[in-house]
Amino acid sequence: MLDIIKRLKEEIGALTASDLNELESLRIKYLSKKGEITSLFNEFRNVPAEQKREVGKLLNELKDEALQKINSLKERISDNKQTDTEIDLTRSAYPVKLGTRHPISIVKNEICDIFGKLGFSIAEGPEIEDDWHVFSSLNFPEDHPARDMQDTFFIQRSPDVLLRTHTSSVQTRVMGKTQPPIRIICPGRVYRNEAISARAHCFFHQVEALYVDKNVTFADLKQALLFFAKEMFGANTKIRLRPSYFPFTEPSAEMDISCNLCGGKGCSFCKGTGWVEILGCGMVDPNVLEACGIDSKVYTGYALGMGIERVTNLKYQVKDLRMFSENDKRFLEEFEAAL
Ligand code: DAH
Repeated sequence: MLDIIKRLKEEIGALTASDLNELESLRIKYLSKKGEITSLFNEFRNVPAEQKREVGKLLNELKDEALQKINSLKERISDNKQTDTEIDLTRSAYPVKLGTRHPISIVKNEICDIFGKLGFSIAEGPEIEDDWHVFSSLNFPEDHPARDMQDTFFIQRSPDVLLRTHTSSVQTRVMGKTQPPIRIICPGRVYRNEAISARAHCFFHQVEALYVDKNVTFADLKQALLFFAKEMFGANTKIRLRPSYFPFTEPSAEMDISCNLCGGKGCSFCKGTGWVEILGCGMVDPNVLEACGIDSKVYTGYALGMGIERVTNLKYQVKDLRMFSENDKRFLEEFEAAL
């Protein structure tokens, strides 16, 4: 018996196991009901009385060692496992919170995606523009108030170089270079010389859409508007068009959507009317087509333009325009879920 105990002691001291299965078979081999160490305990009664004290002590020691060995192997295996698979070693030591997309970008992407479904592709133009693309080509009369220093930021005191006041300038940039069919959506930043308040800012964002082809009619415009309103604000959204005036469209209209807060019943958001204004639109004025070298007897088109801040406000009720440019993380994080 003493020899067997000695042998087992050596064996156990040298045990290794690379995974939990291997370890379990070792446990079974030595410590289960029929395990080698357990069998020794069963044979203990046959040990002569004078040896019982010594053998019993060694036997208990052997069992303790075996248990300890198995536990330490188990710990080592689970440590290894963690290093291999559960900890991302490329992670930085301190938790880094990812930023979120800006609400203006979220809404801009949404608008572009919706028009993308109708076959519109994105076009962009410069923010520093000339008078021709922002005003003259778009049929603004010489003395139109928008050309005034009070509304427009001019650059280097040149009356010809200015910060664009609307993304309609991208219309005439594209029409000047391309013959129809043209179907573009133009997102971008625009600038106006306004005092900054909750309701006005010196820069904001617009999306312009333009469709020019043979036989484009007001009915096409209306259908595109309805599609956009339902996709953006929900299938129950209604639209209404009011006659309006823009130099570059004839006829022109402004579109309201049924208030998406009260569903059209009337609330403080829609000032009790059930409707909220969202964008301007119309049929491209033949003068604009001609100014860009497009034959207005062959082609017609529609255009529309909207403020992204306005759409964001309608969708998320952002009351103060200044929030969009303050970089307040608490505000920006509110849009995590909208991504
Ligand atoms: N450019 C106009 C603005 O800044 C918006 C607009 C109105 C664009 C009517 C259009 C349109 O294309 O047809 O207020």
